[in-house]
Amino acid sequence: MGIQKVMVIGAGQMGSGIAQVCAASGYSVVLHDLKEEFVERGISTIHKNLNRQVDKGKLSQEDMAETVQKIQRSTDLQNAKNVDLVIEAAVENMRIKTELFAELDKICPEGTILATNTSSLPITEIAAATSRPEKVIGMHFMNPVPVMKLVEIIRGLATADEVYQTVEDMAKALNKVPVEVNDFPGFVSNRILMPMINEAIYTLYEGVATKEAIDDVMKLGMNHPMGPLTLADFIGLDTCLYIMETLHEGFGDDKYRPCPLLRKYVKAGWLGRKSGRGFYSYS
Ligand code: CAA
Repeated sequence: MGIQKVMVIGAGQMGSGIAQVCAASGYSVVLHDLKEEFVERGISTIHKNLNRQVDKGKLSQEDMAETVQKIQRSTDLQNAKNVDLVIEAAVENMRIKTELFAELDKICPEGTILATNTSSLPITEIAAATSRPEKVIGMHFMNPVPVMKLVEIIRGLATADEVYQTVEDMAKALNKVPVEVNDFPGFVSNRILMPMINEAIYTLYEGVATKEAIDDVMKLGMNHPMGPLTLADFIGLDTCLYIMETLHEGFGDDKYRPCPLLRKYVKAGWLGRKSGRGFYSYS
């Protein structure tokens, strides 16, 4: 099951990062989104990232040009008909994902592996929307994708061993470190990370300390590269809320209840870096 051509669905923060690392590792990439402007925005993020590496002398102009020319733009899902692997990084919405996977199942050749970059939705349920659940798998990259080494590879209930192996090999070829995980709410990464972020928000909500103090405790006391509130802004507060809701619903345990302050910020449209305001302001 050799992978040569990959379609990445969703040209946002995650999708563009995934497309960049795949192209930089020599794969042919089709970067797909609903509108041309979304694809162009993703391409321009990739250019910005690669240019930064060129400026730092870590990448040659020739290698940058080679990476860029490996990425084909797409707004037509039919372009999935000749790819070996699809990595879906669209919005975190089960209905959208199942509809997309059902459509991909019809378009893609029998052998194509369908992977999702979902941060917490059940792989098994996404797989059930297709006639090839054994070829559906989770491939969870971390943000920023070009920098973070981890790829959580999630086996759905029916995922075939051969498919797991192919995806694990590909993650290694991307110079990432794959970790095998079974399909449970939040997998491993977000089951551990999000309750910590949620607890940091409760700590702020209850007036235990200022946001800066909370972040300093975790940064300087635990050597985290970012404090939990800065990290929440970086991930997006809507995403954090969505993952907490998935954990709360999936386990039915009140310890996963999202903090009311998180709900309030999301309702206000304070979504973190991407909206210009979250726990901190960004100009
Ligand atoms: N895209 C690409 N490259 C980036 C980047 C971005 N958005 N941001 C930073 N970088 C690169 C820089 O260019 C720099 O590269 P070089 O080493 O080649 O020079 C390197 O990363 C370090 O950047 P900086 O020196 O500017 O800043 P830093 O040392 O503070 O690192 C950081 C920035 C890597 C983001 C670091 O703060 C960090 O690791 N933060 C935590 C990130 C994290 O926890 N991510 C996981 C989020 S959870 C998730 O993604 C899963 C989910 O489902 C929610």
